[in-house]
Amino acid sequence: MTGTLTIVGLGPGPEGWVTPAATEAVDHADMILGYAPYVNRLTPKAGQVFEATDNREELARAERALHLAGSGRRVALVSGGDPGVFAMAAAVYEAVEKNPASAEKIDIRVEPGVTAMLAAAARIGAPLGHDFCAISLSDNLKSWATIEKRLRLAAEADFVIALYNPASKARPQQIKQAFDLLAGVLPAETIVVFARAVGRADEEVDVTTLAHATEMPCDMRTLVMVGSRETRKVVAADGRAWVYTPRSERER
Ligand SMILES: C[S@@+](CC[C@H](N)C(=O)[O-])C[C@H]1O[C@@H](n2cnc3c(N)ncnc32)[C@H](O)[C@@H]1O
Repeated sequence: MTGTLTIVGLGPGPEGWVTPAATEAVDHADMILGYAPYVNRLTPKAGQVFEATDNREELARAERALHLAGSGRRVALVSGGDPGVFAMAAAVYEAVEKNPASAEKIDIRVEPGVTAMLAAAARIGAPLGHDFCAISLSDNLKSWATIEKRLRLAAEADFVIALYNPASKARPQQIKQAFDLLAGVLPAETIVVFARAVGRADEEVDVTTLAHATEMPCDMRTLVMVGSRETRKVVAADGRAWVYTPRSERER
């Protein structure tokens, strides 16, 4: 083996949500690469070099990480959340597929992290207690027709649907289109959770229904969860409420 490349998940925000194994991988690296907001969450240690890049250059960043590891460096490539969920781990394997020689003798590992969907679910209760799926609403890497098909079939199959990348400045309308499509399949009272900046100082978690979902603000720091037909609110005697999906399918 020459160098090492560890693709590390830093979780959605708080240090307490970073696994000890992820911290160890970062501590043992001599080069840390990643999208600037993730790299900036770390404090350089003696001898470490930090390299922050633009978010749109994932494949180039993966190729650079492989190149550095191939020249003997101990590289940590950091991602927010889990690195295998709409993130850098797949970009690295895509680079390996494109150029298998670039991975020769490199010890490549993935260190998992808490993905946004799990952090959001934990904040609101247990919405993922039964079958669920995750769909990215970004049409940068797939067609909108594919997204619509997946949304429709997931709703028909009654999955809880976690929507990553629900909106951005360049794509403000797609979340509304998604809700309109889902409203054609699911009841108007279907629960929808908006979890914004989970784990950060400006975290906001709101619960509404599909009928009112288009009224809610939504941006690229938001994770949207659309409930199944079984997802419901549960209220304690003191008025506190949570959202959960029962573990068993019940008769309708
Ligand atoms: C490119 S994906 C990366 C996902 C990341 N690898 C993960 O496992 O969470 C970015 C999307 O993840 C979601 N996201 C990431 N961090 C979040 C957070 N702290 N709170 C809410 N959503 C978050 C948002 O939907 C955002 O648009």
